[in-house]
Parts: sequence; C-alpha cells; structure tokens
Amino acid sequence: MLVNQQQYRTIWPNSSAAGRTVEIIDQTKLPHVFEIAQVRDLPQMIMAIKTMQVRGAPLIGAAAAYGVALAVQQDGSDHHLAESAKLLIQSRPTAVNLRWAVQRMLNRLLPLPVEDRLQTAWAEAALICDEDVLLNQAIGTHGLDLIREVHYKKSRTINILTHCNAGWLATVDFGTALAPIYAAHNAGLDVHVWVGETRPRNQGASLTAWELGQHGVPHTVISDNAGGHLMQQGKVDMVIVGADRVTASGDVCNKIGTYLKALAAFDSSTLGHQVPFYAAVPSPTIDWTMTDGFQQIEIEERDAEELAWMSGKLANGTIATVNILPQGTKVANPAFDVTPARLVTGIITEQGVFAPHQLNRMKR
Ligand code: MRU
Repeated sequence: MLVNQQQYRTIWPNSSAAGRTVEIIDQTKLPHVFEIAQVRDLPQMIMAIKTMQVRGAPLIGAAAAYGVALAVQQDGSDHHLAESAKLLIQSRPTAVNLRWAVQRMLNRLLPLPVEDRLQTAWAEAALICDEDVLLNQAIGTHGLDLIREVHYKKSRTINILTHCNAGWLATVDFGTALAPIYAAHNAGLDVHVWVGETRPRNQGASLTAWELGQHGVPHTVISDNAGGHLMQQGKVDMVIVGADRVTASGDVCNKIGTYLKALAAFDSSTLGHQVPFYAAVPSPTIDWTMTDGFQQIEIEERDAEELAWMSGKLANGTIATVNILPQGTKVANPAFDVTPARLVTGIITEQGVFAPHQLNRMKR
C-alpha cells in the first residue's frame, strides 16, 4: 500500500555483502515516526515479534518464515532448524499463523540436503509473503460483495466498525478486515470506518487510523467503550474484524475486546438494528485441529507495563512515555478473547463467505 505516495509492504528481504537481512516497518514507532528496521538474525526476529515491531497474525507468520531463513543462514543443520522453530513458535502463542508458517518452512527444508536449504528458505519465505497478498486481495473481493449489498439496500454512507488493526500493517499487504473496506473505497462506495482505539496497545488509534488516513478512507477513532452505544443508535451497519485463530467450529479468537463488540452487535437486533458481525480470515488463520476456542486456544498474557504506561507525542513534538496508574497497582493484561461462533454472522475467507458452522466446507 502507499505511504507518502510510495509503495510498501510490511516486510521484505534485502541483500548486502554480509549476507541477507530482513527489513520491516517498525510498528512500535507509528503513527508519529515511519521507520524501517533491519533484522539481521533469528534472535532479532524473535525480539521484533515479541515487542510487536511486527504484529498481526499473517505478518507474524511471514516474519517467522523469514526468521527460519535467517536461522538457516547461520546454520542449516537439522538440530539448529528444530531449535530455531521452537523458539519462534514460543515467541507469541495465540496467532496460529506463526506455527503454520514455521511448520511449512520445516516441511520444505528438512527433506533437502543442508547445502541446498538456504536458497530454498529465502524463496519459500518470499512465497509465503506473495501468497498472503493474494489471499488478502481475494478476501477484499468477497467482502466487497457484502458491503455492496448493504450499500444497495441503504443508499447512504455505510458505517463499518473495526477493532485493533487488521489492515495492511497486520499482513504483508492489503490486510484482512480492511481489505474489503479498501476495495469498497477504491470502487467508489461511500464507506466510513469507526476505529476502536484498542487499549492497551492502541493498534486501532495508532495503526488503523494511520493506514486508513494514508489511503484517504474516511474514518473516526472512538474509545473502545463507545462501540455498543453507536450500535444501539443505528450508527453501525456492520462490524468487520480480523482474527488470530479461528477454530474448525467457527469460534473467533481476536484482540481483546472483540467479544464485547460481537455481543453488542448481536443485541442490536432487539432495537431493530441488524448489525452483522464478520471476521475476515485467510485460511492459514484457521486451526482445523481445534473445535472449542475457549478450552483450546492459549490466550497470550502480556506485560503489565502495557497498561501502566502510554506513549505519545507531546505538544513540543517529542515522543514521551508516561505512567497512568497509581504505583504498585496490580494489572492483568490478557491480549485476546474468543467470540463464540453463535455470535458470528460470517467468516470472510479467500474462498468466499461462510457461516461459522459451515466453515468445514472450505477446500483445504
Ligand atoms: O497483538 P496484535 O496487534 O498482534 O493483534 C492483532 C490482532 O488481533 C488482529 O486483529 C489479528 O491478528 C488479525 S490481523 C489481520
């Protein structure tokens, strides 16, 4: 997508005399600073994933694939590959794309002689990235049909609520939840996005608002708690979110707070407003081994500091981090929640839109 009129993906390889490195857009610096960071080895890639310089389920998968390539660059032996894979998979537990990508890299590399692994590793990681872009474009096309339908019925601005960042920054390009929105905007449909700020890391306020702004899509940032109120007032036509893991039974695990949006959307019909709730999900985000999101999905518990501290730009332009809690306050910081399939209207995939209980109709 475009940043200051220049085309970018979120991650790409770079060659230098010292070997190959990986470049990423450092998402911890946005929206105030657009900075490219260089990742030179596996420990740096693991750190980039843990600290959320790269984040979002599909992008974590792509980053992990390049992490494997960086590991092979150091040592392509079976033992080193297995150890590296383990460390990568542990770096963030909830998004299944990470395990999926690492497993795909191992399946591709382990049958090869060690001396053939490096070139194949870089090629396979690049393929994972290219495929991600195609999957997201297809999600955009199917989601556009849904938006068109609502637009046709209502003949006015269509207000779409989203949570966290499931835009191009969360993927290699185009995004999942935002792909249909970009497609609708590009097709000339009148869309407006309610962007939930997404405490504690503010991916909505910092990242979604930034990328929608770069593309010229009308949007308004709201506090996380405002979503239900807007739905009661009939100011939301549909909700589209991304996901970190979707079970075979259609339970949707996504950024903490997603469940509350789904509950409010479900209840809105009691006031005569139908607010369909969609998750936009590429197939690598579906975990076919799981059927019960509550029992089986590991919810990442992140550092208390994420709630205690906020960073932003001061009036004088400097970036500052400030503490907002009384000293010593106990904090809990679960990073994701599970929305049960019964609250989900549909899952927008690259193969089309499925009711959650019909997800198993997808080709695998
Ligand atoms: O903690 P994050 O920022 O990695 O969480 C991201 C989300 O929850 C996204 O909604 C999800 O990964 C889908 S991204 C296309």
